[in-house]
Amino acid sequence: MDMDEAPGESLINALASTRIGNDTIFSWFARYQQAKSDGHDAVNGTVGSLLEDNGQLAINHVVDEMLRKAPPLEFASYAPLKGLPSFLDLSITLALGEHRSTLEEMGFAFTSTATPGGSGALFLAASNLCERGEAILLRDRYWGPYAGFLKGCGLGMATWPLLPEAGSEYPFFADTAFEKEVEQLASTQSTVMVWLNDPAHNPTGLTMSAEGRRAALDVMMASASRHPGIGHTLLLDAAYSLYADEPHGWGETIVETMEDGTPWPENFLITYAVSMSKSHTAYGLRTGALIAIHPDQNITERLRGILGVTGRQTWSAAPRLLQYTAAELHSNPETANAWSDERYRLQGLLIERRKAFVEACEELNVPINPTHDGFFGWLEHDNPESITEKCAAEHVYLVPLQGGVRIGLCAIPLASIRRVVETLQKALN
Ligand SMILES: Cc1ncc(COP(=O)(O)O)c(C=O)c1O
Repeated sequence: MDMDEAPGESLINALASTRIGNDTIFSWFARYQQAKSDGHDAVNGTVGSLLEDNGQLAINHVVDEMLRKAPPLEFASYAPLKGLPSFLDLSITLALGEHRSTLEEMGFAFTSTATPGGSGALFLAASNLCERGEAILLRDRYWGPYAGFLKGCGLGMATWPLLPEAGSEYPFFADTAFEKEVEQLASTQSTVMVWLNDPAHNPTGLTMSAEGRRAALDVMMASASRHPGIGHTLLLDAAYSLYADEPHGWGETIVETMEDGTPWPENFLITYAVSMSKSHTAYGLRTGALIAIHPDQNITERLRGILGVTGRQTWSAAPRLLQYTAAELHSNPETANAWSDERYRLQGLLIERRKAFVEACEELNVPINPTHDGFFGWLEHDNPESITEKCAAEHVYLVPLQGGVRIGLCAIPLASIRRVVETLQKALN
């Protein structure tokens, strides 16, 4: 073997050789765990799971109790390849909420395909709805694994800024840059696909305003009308939506756009990547769905076939147990309400921590990004490792990502929030 060559170089392909390194988030979590086991009073702001104030994983007990009562067959059997029909129906309601029936009355058709988590839904979209070699449009701060999904599907990436210039019309949406990028892609590619993790963006906690949502939708629909041969897809990554103040804001925006008489271009599709990981505190049961919405049922039916076959050829069927349990849970008003009460309690943890965080940052002049909903806060920084290293020296563990530091409010006990902000202030100065 050539001494400069990585081991097994001849055994792997070119793509595999780019799959290197530990996941940054997990390696910083490991540093927290080490500090804890060395006896330090360490704060964990690394993980992307919701923890109770005592550091234990928050579990929606209604889901847990119902899972344990499921019949043996629901554990052991395959699910139908495209998913259990009762779960597929539920997934559409979870994505659209009260706007589902209005959209149905307006003549929209839906299709849903069960997937292993929201990640599976993102894979289905990347693998089918954008031409290989073309770029998908993302905001310039995004969940790191997006890059891997895209690369694995032979796709590139284009970005536009997460936040607009000061004084822009929409405080949380860089509309001019977005429009320019969409036009650029529509003029040079055969497909335009936009991924938007909204509401409750990972890694910043940003949620777009109703006006921003409408402006984004208008840009995409206008572009689809101007470029009739170019498929346009808006993918809404709804991984954290059920902990947001307005979980179904996009449904509302779609309804309003239709009510204003905007014609829906045939080459425009909206998809939702639904994840049950957070909303049902069932991260390990790997359950989610990709939902597609279009007024033409022939199109949604065609997609149903394509997405189902892709799943079959990749992971076979998605896990069955939570599909069954979630459908049962939500079909009974008593358990559905109990789940919702518990979800509301968990959302309350996030609201209290975020409020304390934002207030302390204001008081101590820590220049964090706007943050509204969901699991995270964000400090924009050119050298994020320098900040997280200084914080780690004080045993506060945060995650350095491209362009800034992710603060896992989902994991930090309320009583430690002020210490985190004071540590950030010290690190910045
Ligand atoms: C932004 C975002 N999208 C999607 C997912 C997918 O989650 P899962 O595959 O566990 O459902 C996550 C999980 O952390 C996420 O942060």
